[in-house]
Amino acid sequence: MRHFLTLRDFSKEEILDIISLAVKIKKRAKKGKFKPYMKDKVLGMIFEKSSTRTRVSFEVGIHQLGGKGLFLSSDDIQLGRGEPLKDTARVLSRMVDMAMIRTFGQERIEEFAKYSTIPLISGLSDRYHPMQLLADYMTICEHGKDKNLIAAYVGDGNNIAHSWLMLASKIGFELRICSPKGYEVNEQVLNDAHEFAKKSGAKILVCEKPKNAVKNASVVTTDTWVSMGQESEKAKRQSDFQGFMIDDKMMALAQKNAMFLHCLPAYRGYEVSDEVFEAHANEIFDEAENRLHVQKAVMVWLDRQR
Ligand code: CP
Ligand code: NVA
Repeated sequence: MRHFLTLRDFSKEEILDIISLAVKIKKRAKKGKFKPYMKDKVLGMIFEKSSTRTRVSFEVGIHQLGGKGLFLSSDDIQLGRGEPLKDTARVLSRMVDMAMIRTFGQERIEEFAKYSTIPLISGLSDRYHPMQLLADYMTICEHGKDKNLIAAYVGDGNNIAHSWLMLASKIGFELRICSPKGYEVNEQVLNDAHEFAKKSGAKILVCEKPKNAVKNASVVTTDTWVSMGQESEKAKRQSDFQGFMIDDKMMALAQKNAMFLHCLPAYRGYEVSDEVFEAHANEIFDEAENRLHVQKAVMVWLDRQR
């Protein structure tokens, strides 16, 4: 049995395998065809943080696979009143077929997995957001940008940045990361990415200035400056991130026809200008839609490993 807790645990071949399954599932869905790969199976979805895309895509996804999703907000279940996570994991293991969790520390995801006898999927932690990056790479491939890919991530050294590091270092493309001082990516994650890059041939660069990262990039991306759980740091962050907005001037440094991706939710006027966002809305909402298709593929893939 496998879990999907981080891209770090997956090989390039496995990642590409899941994406090609997602492409197949998407193609069929566009014709109104849905194979009941997970007929009558139940996905328990624990949310300790808010969500629009992750919740809707998993719930719709399992439904389209012939199963059922259970939305379990920590505000409503005993977990939120202090029931240990390891007990929640063991109870769910007896009642549902697969679980998904969105939480704070990655160690909470790992703890759940340790006690779980059913496959567990990460729906985001403070450290990683692997489902997002699978959808991002699927979108990159669909738009024909996977050849000679040079990606630039400008912004907070957060869960999205860490998952970009994992994706690039596993797949083997060039990734430039630029974050303000004090908001750099985790050193251990960066070191691991450098280690994986030795095998994949990825080029991982940490840049001093946003413009150095974006120059000649074929895909530009960013994320909110204030992640869930950091609300009290909002004013300080908004001031410390000045100069890091992706605007027209910044995009002009990238390749002509460069793609712009954003995991959403986006805060216009902060990490991205309204002009850049709207000019790339088609790509961004393809990216959002692909969460649905790729997560269906992940569920089917994990179910097959059992
Ligand atoms: N991108 C993403 O995971 O969105 P939600 O927080 O709405 O799930
Ligand atoms: N970095 C953001 C991603 C939201 C999908 C957060 O953790 O809030």
